[in-house]
Amino acid sequence: MAGRAVLVSGGAGCLGAAAARALAARGCAVAVADRDLEGAERVALDCRERAPASFAIGVDLATAEGPERMVETAAEGLGGLDVLVQCAAAAPVEPFLEPTAEAWEAALLVNGRACALADAAAGRIMKAQGRGISTPSAPSATRRSRWAGAPIPRRWRRWSSGSCSTRPAT
Ligand SMILES: NC(=O)c1ccc[n+]([C@@H]2O[C@H](COP(=O)([O-])OP(=O)(O)OC[C@H]3O[C@@H](n4cnc5c(N)ncnc54)[C@H](O)[C@@H]3O)[C@@H](O)[C@H]2O)c1
Repeated sequence: MAGRAVLVSGGAGCLGAAAARALAARGCAVAVADRDLEGAERVALDCRERAPASFAIGVDLATAEGPERMVETAAEGLGGLDVLVQCAAAAPVEPFLEPTAEAWEAALLVNGRACALADAAAGRIMKAQGRGISTPSAPSATRRSRWAGAPIPRRWRRWSSGSCSTRPAT
């Protein structure tokens, strides 16, 4: 993995920060993207100890243009994009028996639409490069992708939780 260019969304969060730090420790340059720019900066600072080209991106993935802008900013700053790891997630807390449409819509924008748009933007760059990996995102069970239900290629398994991509999304 050393020398690979990686974008981690939700990089200020629990899973995203762990992924960013782990990949930087293996020599990947990491673009750490999050709505929480201060948090992303802190994680990027840690990443730079092992991967000096790492940097933070502030982005609101609930916006229509956010996902593509995030991917393009990362690819520009890293000089390409080899791996996309999507960990950004919105999880409004509500009483179980009183869910609101507004909260679900807000969650689906980040956990669903943003994942699909970022996947596509990264896919276009990776296709042009002739290489690249988009990992199953933590919240990706909310969307249906062309990989849903397909076995994970052997070379991906080491990097994938497998929990979302080994069964069809619902
Ligand atoms: N932590 C776990 O052990 C675990 C296990 C299994 C699944 N998950 C799932 O993985 C996902 C991530 O988990 P986590 O624990 O890292 O959550 P987290 O809340 O710690 O991190 C989510 C990150 O997404 C960012 N984010 C939210 N809305 C955004 C937006 N509009 N634009 C940009 N960034 C935005 C937040 O700022 C935050 O940093 C969740 O869907 C969670 O349910 C987590």
